[in-house]
Amino acid sequence: MRLRKKCKKSFPARKRFFARPRGVWIWKISIKLGLWFSLCILLIEIVSMTFLHRNLVHSRVHQEFESLRTTGNTQRDLLEVYSDPHTLNHISLLGAHSDTQVVVTKTNGEIMISSVTINSSIKEILNIPITKLSRSGEILQDDWKKEKYIATVSAFNKDGKVSGYVYMFKNTTDVQKLISQLNKHIFVASLLVLVSIFIFIFFLSKALTKPLITMKEATKKLSKGDFSVTLPKPSNDEIGELSQSIQTLANDLNYLKQERNEFLASISHELRTPLTYINGYADIARRKGLGEQDRDQYLTIIQEEAQRVSRLVKELFDLAKLDQNHFSIKKEKVHLNAFLQSTFERVLPAFKDKGINLVLDCPNNLSLDIDPIRFEQVILNLLDNSLKYSKASTSTYLRAFEENGEIKVVIHDQGVGIPQEDLPHIFDRLYRVDKSRSRSTGGFGLGLAIVKQIIEAHGGEITVESRVGEGTCFTIFLKN
Ligand SMILES: Nc1ncnc2c1ncn2[C@@H]1O[C@H](COP(=O)(O)OP(=O)(O)O)[C@@H](O)[C@H]1O
Ligand SMILES: [Mg+2]
Repeated sequence: MRLRKKCKKSFPARKRFFARPRGVWIWKISIKLGLWFSLCILLIEIVSMTFLHRNLVHSRVHQEFESLRTTGNTQRDLLEVYSDPHTLNHISLLGAHSDTQVVVTKTNGEIMISSVTINSSIKEILNIPITKLSRSGEILQDDWKKEKYIATVSAFNKDGKVSGYVYMFKNTTDVQKLISQLNKHIFVASLLVLVSIFIFIFFLSKALTKPLITMKEATKKLSKGDFSVTLPKPSNDEIGELSQSIQTLANDLNYLKQERNEFLASISHELRTPLTYINGYADIARRKGLGEQDRDQYLTIIQEEAQRVSRLVKELFDLAKLDQNHFSIKKEKVHLNAFLQSTFERVLPAFKDKGINLVLDCPNNLSLDIDPIRFEQVILNLLDNSLKYSKASTSTYLRAFEENGEIKVVIHDQGVGIPQEDLPHIFDRLYRVDKSRSRSTGGFGLGLAIVKQIIEAHGGEITVESRVGEGTCFTIFLKN
């Protein structure tokens, strides 16, 4: 009953959680993740490739200038040693047969030799005033993007005085070609990196989100009431922990579902038997011509069975209340001796009736914080079992004592005992060792379940030891 109510309450909420508005694009987590990764990688690549490109271009252009300057300096060195026309001619020839051009001028600008016809661009450079000039030469024109030539100049000395200049020229189309080649390479490399990273991200985001999607499907199944969920073996991380939790939840729900079904089946079975009796005997009792005595006997059976049903319903109701924690434990300080004495006196006549010797043993100084009404229910249930499952001329002991700061209440009988294999189950609901025997003694197998719930609600514990044919001993441990 309780479970059904719970389900009704929580079902709509679960449905809402999984409901998707029609026509609304649901971003799949793998796409989102992939997009975020791609965006980050794209930014990183743009920044790093721009940086790389700038540096490469810069160092390549720098190399060109250096080589131009070095060639100029070599010519200068030559001219400082041999300044005859033959050497000049030789220098001009060398320029004409390489991709660099050379022009040698005097200090007044007069051209001594030139490997190239002087056009307006060269003239412009030759006219640039040389203000400072170091021994390693100077760069005269460095605008390789717009100008036709890049140029350097080195001065050559004679008798310790500057006697002329060696101008070196290089056509910028060569440099531009070189750089555009470099750009092409960088572009292809970036493209390759991007494509391979996108492929990698695609598989990575799929791999990362796969367990999440499996879990989503699993929770969807759970919300529909299908608890037969098996998730793959979890990895050793947060996603693994989540998967493990969902698996545990599914297993627990499955167990609860099975337990509920079994419980309902047992209850309907328990109800069916007395109701069949009631129905059958009511039929017979209504027959005409039945003797007064017979009718009385049948009506007594009907009454007994009706009482049995109402007892079952009461015990079930008790358990349901204990389960829902609707009942509250109203603890008060109880003088244990007086409390047990009064319970003892209540049950003594029934024990005497059956010829069982009931013994109470409790020191006078013990007191305990308990709910007396609930705790009496516990003792009565346990004593009722001893009474039911013991034969005449045996003894049942009700003892209480303090040990290691704990109060122990022991109910020990010399009854039929409980088989070892049944011991772990006797606190389960509707569990009885011998169903046919229990029917004659009138139990439903709910007594010990109620006892356990009450003891646990008091923060205590109950254990059982038993031997078939020798007797049973229940021990209640309570903190003082
Ligand atoms: N003192 C006892 N001696 C022998 N068997 C016992 C004793 N107490 C409990 N049992 C066994 O444990 C089962 C569960 O006990 P309980 O929950 O009180 O149900 P019942 O309604 O049958 O008394 C009983 O059916 C009985 O077989
Ligand atoms: Mg009982």
